[in-house]
Amino acid sequence: MRAVDIIAKKRDGESIAREDITAVVSGYTSGDIPDYQMAALLMAVYLRGLDPAETLALTEAMLHSGIVVDLSDLADSRVDKHSTGGVGDKTSLIVAPVVAAAGVVVPMISGRALAHSGGTLDKLESIPGFRTNLSIEEFRKALQETGAALIGQTEQIAPADKKLYALRDVTATVACRPLMAASIMSKKMAEGITGLVLDVKVGNGAFMKKESEALGLAEVMLDIARRMNSQAVALLTDMNQPLGRAVGNSLEVIEALETLKNRGPHDLNQLCRELSAEMLLLGGAVNDLEDGRRRYDDLIKSGAALEKMRTIIERQSGDPRVVDHYDLLPGAGKSKDVLAYSSGFVGAIDTEAIGHASMLLGAGRLRLDSKIDYGAGISINAKIGDSVNRGDALSTIHFNVEDRISDVEAIVTKAYTIVSDRIQKPNLLKARLG
Ligand code: URA
Repeated sequence: MRAVDIIAKKRDGESIAREDITAVVSGYTSGDIPDYQMAALLMAVYLRGLDPAETLALTEAMLHSGIVVDLSDLADSRVDKHSTGGVGDKTSLIVAPVVAAAGVVVPMISGRALAHSGGTLDKLESIPGFRTNLSIEEFRKALQETGAALIGQTEQIAPADKKLYALRDVTATVACRPLMAASIMSKKMAEGITGLVLDVKVGNGAFMKKESEALGLAEVMLDIARRMNSQAVALLTDMNQPLGRAVGNSLEVIEALETLKNRGPHDLNQLCRELSAEMLLLGGAVNDLEDGRRRYDDLIKSGAALEKMRTIIERQSGDPRVVDHYDLLPGAGKSKDVLAYSSGFVGAIDTEAIGHASMLLGAGRLRLDSKIDYGAGISINAKIGDSVNRGDALSTIHFNVEDRISDVEAIVTKAYTIVSDRIQKPNLLKARLG
């Protein structure tokens, strides 16, 4: 069937046969199907959806667009975690070294910034020299030597996701359950893992705004894992405010390093503790989750996780001195505080707007070929439930390029709702599935 006929079928709400899905994915990966046809198909899928059989077929086609890495000779258990995307989510930079420091192998294939959400690869690449494009042999060697390696989709591993991910980012087709599930599960299943922890974000900064939508996404991904004989667990976690206090690449690397030094913000540390406990349990390093939480605390307090991060950075050609010298990371020449317009309590934060503001500063991409400004970002000084006085700095904008600062300031000011009555801080962990 021609690509145009498949697009028309989905446009009209019909199902696409497995062989046609396989052909489209392989044609797009090889370059035979152009971006404009794939963009049209993605939009048709965004509007019409995919049924479970189509979602599984898409996942498998994307998975087999490249190699499935066999790491069975390295260790019996290989565990990873993946987030569905949020603002200020730097958990991968913390849980990977923690879990590897406990002796569990962590092969991690991550993504770049997507729409308003940040990406682990961009954060890592703010470390001078850090390489996320390791070949399979280099990936395997790094895992052998350090127990954890963090890379992106390559021409060899999950190449279909590499192309589709970038195309979805600029065609408003990210927040789509089957496309997210196939994107995440295809690259995770390509890693040769035995266990996966899914951090499914829900709230105004997530792609799934409602709990029912996030639960649906979690169930689709767990179902794919089951059908592919992989163990998986999903945590539904709050994304109604940025995680931690840093948004933007270098800023987030610093906050991750601070967390590894036991000086991280409470919510970030709490989430990393839960995710690590789940990973350690799947990896067979602990007997139960409580044991896993204790192990997390020990690995952070002893400095073992921080030392593992230093080794990972060095092994992937990054400058390990950044661990102690944050001034070696790209910075922002200028900053500007966003002030509270009244006194009271922070009642809500439009988290997607904060992500967009950070992207406008240069921390994310507006186009396929946009260059990232690694030093740009936003410090979140006031979080939900905090009391503020008129004129307090709610946030601080860090920037190198002046052009959009007044727009960004207006977006960030508007993102904050200040109320007169004290309100509860949101509950970070909402549900556990699997
Ligand atoms: N993370 C991914 O890897 N893919 C998505 O589509 C969304 C988040």
